Amino acid sequence: MAALLPLLVLLGVPGSRAQYPLDDRGGLGRLFDGIGGVSGGGATSRLLVNYPEPYRAQILDYLFKPNFGASLHILKVEIGGDAQTTDGTEPSHMHYPDDQNYFRGYEWWLMKEAKKRNPNITLIGLPWAFPGWIGYGRNWPYDFPDVTAYYVVSWIMGAKQYHDLDIDYVGIWNERSFDVKYIKLLRYTLDKSGLDQVGIIASDNLWQPISHRMLWDSELLGAVDVIGAHYPGTRTVPDALLTGKKLWASEDYSTFNDEVGGGCWARILNQNYVNGNMTSTISWNLVASYYEELPFGREGLMTAKEPWSGNYVVSSPIWITAHTTQFTRPGWFYLRTVGHLEKGGSYVALTDGRGNLTVIIETMSHNSSICIRPPLPAFNVSAQNATFHLEGSFHGVKSLQVWHSQLDLNSTKPTLFRNLPPVKVNGGSFTVELGADEIYTLTTITTGQKGSYPDPPLSQPFPLKYQDDFNVRNPPFSEAPNFADQSGVFEYFTNTSDPGDHVFTLRQVLTQRPITWVSDAEQAISVIGDFKWSNVTITCDIYIETPDTGGVFIAARVNQGGSPARLARGVFFWVFADGTYEVTGDLLGKIVLSKGLSGVRARRWHTLTLHTDGLYACGLLNGNPLWKNVIMLGPLHGWAAIGTHSFQFAQFDNFVIEAKGNP
Ligand SMILES: *[C@@H]1O[C@H](CO)[C@@H](O)[C@H](O)[C@H]1NC(C)=O
Ligand SMILES: *[C@@H]1O[C@H](CO)[C@@H](O)[C@H](O)[C@H]1NC(C)=O
Ligand SMILES: *[C@@H]1O[C@H](CO)[C@@H](O)[C@H](O)[C@H]1NC(C)=O
Ligand SMILES: *[C@@H]1O[C@H](CO)[C@@H](O)[C@H](O)[C@H]1NC(C)=O
Ligand SMILES: *[C@@H]1O[C@H](CO)[C@@H](O)[C@H](O)[C@H]1NC(C)=O
Ligand SMILES: *[C@@H]1O[C@H](CO)[C@@H](O)[C@H](O)[C@H]1NC(C)=O
Ligand SMILES: *[C@@H]1O[C@H](CO)[C@@H](O)[C@H](O)[C@H]1NC(C)=O
Ligand SMILES: *[C@@H]1O[C@H](CO)[C@@H](O)[C@H](O)[C@H]1NC(C)=O
Ligand SMILES: *[C@@H]1O[C@H](CO)[C@@H](O)[C@H](O)[C@H]1NC(C)=O
Repeated sequence: MAALLPLLVLLGVPGSRAQYPLDDRGGLGRLFDGIGGVSGGGATSRLLVNYPEPYRAQILDYLFKPNFGASLHILKVEIGGDAQTTDGTEPSHMHYPDDQNYFRGYEWWLMKEAKKRNPNITLIGLPWAFPGWIGYGRNWPYDFPDVTAYYVVSWIMGAKQYHDLDIDYVGIWNERSFDVKYIKLLRYTLDKSGLDQVGIIASDNLWQPISHRMLWDSELLGAVDVIGAHYPGTRTVPDALLTGKKLWASEDYSTFNDEVGGGCWARILNQNYVNGNMTSTISWNLVASYYEELPFGREGLMTAKEPWSGNYVVSSPIWITAHTTQFTRPGWFYLRTVGHLEKGGSYVALTDGRGNLTVIIETMSHNSSICIRPPLPAFNVSAQNATFHLEGSFHGVKSLQVWHSQLDLNSTKPTLFRNLPPVKVNGGSFTVELGADEIYTLTTITTGQKGSYPDPPLSQPFPLKYQDDFNVRNPPFSEAPNFADQSGVFEYFTNTSDPGDHVFTLRQVLTQRPITWVSDAEQAISVIGDFKWSNVTITCDIYIETPDTGGVFIAARVNQGGSPARLARGVFFWVFADGTYEVTGDLLGKIVLSKGLSGVRARRWHTLTLHTDGLYACGLLNGNPLWKNVIMLGPLHGWAAIGTHSFQFAQFDNFVIEAKGNP
């Protein structure tokens, strides 16, 4: 046990210890802008919103509450654009040109919850995709830059008007091309709308060509406040430095949130500044609240993907974040004396300019810090004694609070964010003995805290019996729990003139293909349930709204979400307004397993039932057998799903699943 305790030694004889000054006498380094997380790009917080209390509030506390957990400084959200943006679609505030609704989706709610906990949190909005009408039929948002600017500025104004949220920064188009004319027009439109305090981040892609363009265009240089690069691998480029602008890793991390993920995060939080002069690092994503089998499963700072059980996991990146966030604030400054340690690792130091000092040291070795995007080069770390000399304003500091983490890939119980006895600073110096894969924070700030709640409920699979009649609605949300839209947008709908049982339904609301971020399906599809489900019975009332060309489906064993959803296989039971039905092995409808007449018509409610058992499927219409003994050659398991044949209105009601548990 004693051997596990880290050794903090007072400086006696210098010996072979490496020496590192911490000094502000030559001036300070860059202004620190904070550490954050991205909700979106896309639908990464989808399952969070339907957690029961108190678990939902606990998760939010671990993310946002100051001096508790990750205590994030920044929340960046997707400006929903109705299209697939990695793990699903997020609804736009303007599905149609004459439409405005600032209560769709969950990003408004999330921003308010974050602000409730930390009124100082910096808010950023960024579009990944746009509704189709922005491009007047072209898959391009810059042909009518005034329309796009109006659309984005409307979102910022809606945030203020309906939610009293002040958006601090807005971006251009995530990881896609920028347009100089549009950026200037966006700046102009913001200013004209009294939003001159809203900064522009560009271009949420690579350092170039935006940096180069800014150097050669003074109006563009004036319009952009922050150069935001994604997955910069801790490096920047000379042109970006020459602009004199703030440099941010405006999206980074994207790594499975086990200990390796924690190690990656520790390394880039320090080294993005040390190597690349970046003053903010924002994690994709904030919280892994989407079905794990969707793309990039569990690549959030923590995991909360079981609203049905209440189970969540506070993963190592939460505590790695705390090492920086609990002891700094946006508005602090980095010292110029930051750098690499002699035998591997790095250190940064920050000050509030009023005598407070926070030093963060990391010694991540290669194996414990493999970031997925991009893989950082391997290097060796060995045990070392590092001696820091406090100079300038810090010379008089007498003792420092100490917080320690050790990630050990071979151990199931890493040390995470442990408060150690304060270290005495002797004659302005202190020494830390460092092993591999450790993080130390040494700070004058005394408010650090490792927040905790009792363990959440145990993990449970998605319930085998599940139903939703869409009558009981979670007030702030437009989407039904657990449905994860992969193409199209499925919203609660109320038809007050319905004479009977279908006043409250779920409706697919897109009537036009959005300006996509990836190659979305031409069909709309929302998945739900357990990816491991094989033998299920799905029943759902459906209402085709489009005569002649309308069509809807229910499906089982759907094996793909995210962008690959367009190629999803499974068993799809379609009915069409022309009175036919089809059973296909894919969403594209190319693998036809059965077809015939059904008598289904538009603007009438019908009940579809799909039953899968081993290799066989059968289908019922209004409780009567329509087709049977269809052999399924596709995947043996997958999600349940509902959807439409194209971007068209259609409604769903009384959705019921009965699944057989896995043997
Ligand atoms: C917000 O910032 C102000 C000014 O820096 C500070 O006084 C206040 O304590 C901060 N509030 C929180 C909750 O961090
Ligand atoms: C960038 O960082 C390096 C290393 O800390 C430093 O020497 C350099 O002055 C910085 N450059 C700018 C323009 O901030
Ligand atoms: C450090 O920060 C604390 C709290 O933020 C503040 O009260 C104190 O005056 C600051 N300065 C020093 C030298 O501790
Ligand atoms: C690092 O990973 C490599 C490849 O997985 C492995 O061979 C090596 O033993 C690991 N090293 C340590 C120190 O765990
Ligand atoms: C790490 O150490 C091993 C063994 O000493 C050596 O072969 C390798 O080249 C070193 N790698 C780096 C990046 O220094
Ligand atoms: C660090 O210093 C202590 C005390 O002088 C010594 O016992 C230890 O071996 C040193 N560790 C390394 C890695 O040099
Ligand atoms: C993990 O265990 C292996 C084999 O016992 C060992 O070689 C390696 O150094 C260990 N890695 C760490 C980080 O302790
Ligand atoms: C609402 O219900 C009325 C009465 O059944 C029906 O005529 C109308 O088409 C429904 N509207 C929609 C959008 O479903
Ligand atoms: C599904 O049903 C078939 C046939 O009844 C059975 O052989 C198979 O084990 C079931 N699969 C699962 C995952 O329960």
